[in-house]
Amino acid sequence: MSAAAVVTASNLWSAHKADLAALGERARARSLAPRRGIDFSSNDYLAMSSSPRLAMAVQDAIARGVPLGSGGSRLLRGNDPEHEALEEEAAAFFGSEAALFFSAGYAANVALLSTLPQRGDLIVYDELVHASMHEGLRLTRASAVAAAHNDAQSFEDTVREWRSRGGTGRVWLAFESLYSMDGDCAPVADLVAVAERHDAIVLIDEAHATGVFGRDGRGLADGLDGRADIIVLRTCGKTLGCEGALVCGPRVVRDFLINRGRPFIFSTAPSPLVAAAVREAIRMLKDEPARRDRLHALIRHAETALAPLDVRPTGSQILPLVLGDDARTMVVAERLQRAGFDVRGIRPPTVPQGTSRLRISLTLNATPADVDALAHALEECLA
Ligand SMILES: Cc1ncc(COP(=O)(O)O)c(C=O)c1O
Repeated sequence: MSAAAVVTASNLWSAHKADLAALGERARARSLAPRRGIDFSSNDYLAMSSSPRLAMAVQDAIARGVPLGSGGSRLLRGNDPEHEALEEEAAAFFGSEAALFFSAGYAANVALLSTLPQRGDLIVYDELVHASMHEGLRLTRASAVAAAHNDAQSFEDTVREWRSRGGTGRVWLAFESLYSMDGDCAPVADLVAVAERHDAIVLIDEAHATGVFGRDGRGLADGLDGRADIIVLRTCGKTLGCEGALVCGPRVVRDFLINRGRPFIFSTAPSPLVAAAVREAIRMLKDEPARRDRLHALIRHAETALAPLDVRPTGSQILPLVLGDDARTMVVAERLQRAGFDVRGIRPPTVPQGTSRLRISLTLNATPADVDALAHALEECLA
């Protein structure tokens, strides 16, 4: 290669390099780190990802001839009996009319929000919803307006204002039932009541509540499935210990996503082996309630142990400690990591400006004694 060509090649990436350098200067640069230390950061809340039972389910599926790869889109040759069996079992377990399996919750949220609401509709979404919902909102033909976090009145006011300005389409309400960076729960019943007053359709992202709350781990939307106005997203990469996501809702929603949902149509179907594992994970929710009991005991233990350090109890397995400053957050997280605790710092844009935080996630990969040790180390790091 000539010298001129080398110079040109290095210029090719100058804007990207400058952007990365600027992120570094603002303590915002991200990099991949190996998994190490006691788990206080994963979403493997019931420690199912490493359970012998799920490993055995995959082994059994291999023995039955279930393939690793699906070989194509579900609409072509990628549709495997494992996908359909999973969808039927998930719908039966959660009580929805139908379910559709996606390769990721991200793709499912993009599909839901970009596909279902139509031009002339209004989507009112909680201001703290996950990036994947925002991605879907960027693609929607409907109008989208943020409501104040967990504030049913703000949802109500937003709908009324839109109607008073002449909005005539369908209203959609979109929110998470348990917020991944704050650990707080949505006022689901109040939000559903808002929806009922306005004939709205509700999209509930149960990514972090599935498996942890509700009867047999059916989540915080437990009891709402089966209604014509409710769609629930349940991810399979968190408590269920696998990957992918299930959209649970009316059959027309499943049919519509199969016909119009581009992230579903134009993507290779998820691994049939993973579908087999998710089937087993759903059975585990029902068969192994002791896991949930242990997690809830750990939550109560952690709330007490961490309270003196200003870690606000949330009633959930996600305990944030907001430190505010990006750099300080990362320094404290790094110290904890060096002390053997896998606690991660979370910075904007994942969380709002000025609210950088340690996200302490409680899973059965940690014991009450681990929590006590973390509290001790955190006290030293914050001193
Ligand atoms: C609330 C929420 N929704 C959706 C997703 C995306 O799910 P997945 O990781 O399966 O793509 C996440 C992932 O972190 C999430 O926290």
